[in-house]
Amino acid sequence: MKTLNDLTTSNPRDQLGRNLRDLRVSLTDQCNLRCGYCMPNETFGPDYTFLNKEKILSFVEIRKVVEAFAACGGKKVRLTGGEPLLRPNVEDLVQDLRTVDGIEEIALTTNGLLLRKNAKRLKAAGLDRVTLSLDAIEDETFRKMSGKEIPVEKVIDGIRSAEEAKLAVKVNSVIIKGINDHQVLPLAEYFRGTPHILRFIEYMDVGNCNNWSRDNVYTTKEILADVQSRYQVEPVEANYVGEVARRYRYLDGQGEFGMIGSVSQPFCKDCNRARLSADGILFTCLFASTGKNLREVLRGNGDIRHFLEGIWRSRDDRYSELRSDMKVGKVEMSYIGG
Ligand code: GTP
Ligand code: 5AD
Ligand code: SF4
Ligand code: SF4
Repeated sequence: MKTLNDLTTSNPRDQLGRNLRDLRVSLTDQCNLRCGYCMPNETFGPDYTFLNKEKILSFVEIRKVVEAFAACGGKKVRLTGGEPLLRPNVEDLVQDLRTVDGIEEIALTTNGLLLRKNAKRLKAAGLDRVTLSLDAIEDETFRKMSGKEIPVEKVIDGIRSAEEAKLAVKVNSVIIKGINDHQVLPLAEYFRGTPHILRFIEYMDVGNCNNWSRDNVYTTKEILADVQSRYQVEPVEANYVGEVARRYRYLDGQGEFGMIGSVSQPFCKDCNRARLSADGILFTCLFASTGKNLREVLRGNGDIRHFLEGIWRSRDDRYSELRSDMKVGKVEMSYIGG
């Protein structure tokens, strides 16, 4: 039977004919790690000013945005950060979002350090799956990548707690040339034969402070060659239009892995994502420099659905396909939520 929301869903298309399907909601711009490609210590030191608490959207406000998103045809919500589990009681938000008509899936991207404490509660509240970030299997390289003195075992324990809570798990590994590219095979080996899908990610030029250079990008072609040096693999069809990872399966039946090649193989053509920062600014591209202030509309009792629809209809973003040498002015990954 149709619900009221189904009857009124508008499904707006942007300037390039793309529908809105996926909303990434950042719950905080803070994190307990300092990955050099995202929040390098030199920029995000003790004096860094994070978002002012008053500006951060409450769970009630986030629900209103998600309702508007669903009324525009949105199906999937991903909670991100910074590190989203630094925000207390995320399970209350999940439980509430579960009741929004039209939302089919709720996922969470996390570094896993606080999962042991939260996994069961999140599952009970209705979370479908988690994606953990882990860029190395060897401690020394993990420390180098994460900018903190934390052992890999702590993230592995987070994965275990998600397994125990029966949450589906994906693992993201950002690969940087000369820093952790020697970890491609060990990571593949570790997750082969488990139900967890590992996705290798090309180092992207997000934000302004990670000193990105094309020379440091370890491409999906190089990653694939590493995996193929030991295993036979074949491509698999995408699960859905707009999936960012290209899927591969091991021919010996030991599962699958994916690769996200935003630099060498852009996927803007099917991009159906909007991003909401923790302070309620809406962005229609990961590489945007400005967004639209939804918080003001919310707090001024404006029509957020109308606002959101208008923004989506005028969108023509395709940064990864154009990839300019825009060096300043982009929003930071920890602020926009990846
Ligand atoms: P699934 O729902 O499991 O397919 O998750 P996902 O891949 O959409 O989300 P995740 O948070 O795991 O992101 C994986 C990587 O892809 C991160 O490095 C993101 O920054 C990057 N990514 C996600 N969406 C986009 C996008 O629209 N554009 C670009 N350029 N990168 C993206
Ligand atoms: N390039 C590629 N991926 C990145 N992430 C954060 N910063 C970058 C970057 N510069 C990844 C994180 C996390 C996901 C949401 O985004 O590792 O898994
Ligand atoms: Fe934190 Fe994730 Fe950024 Fe690393 S990539 S600093 S874990 S938000
Ligand atoms: Fe979408 Fe922008 Fe990423 Fe292209 S670069 S896929 S438009 S978020």
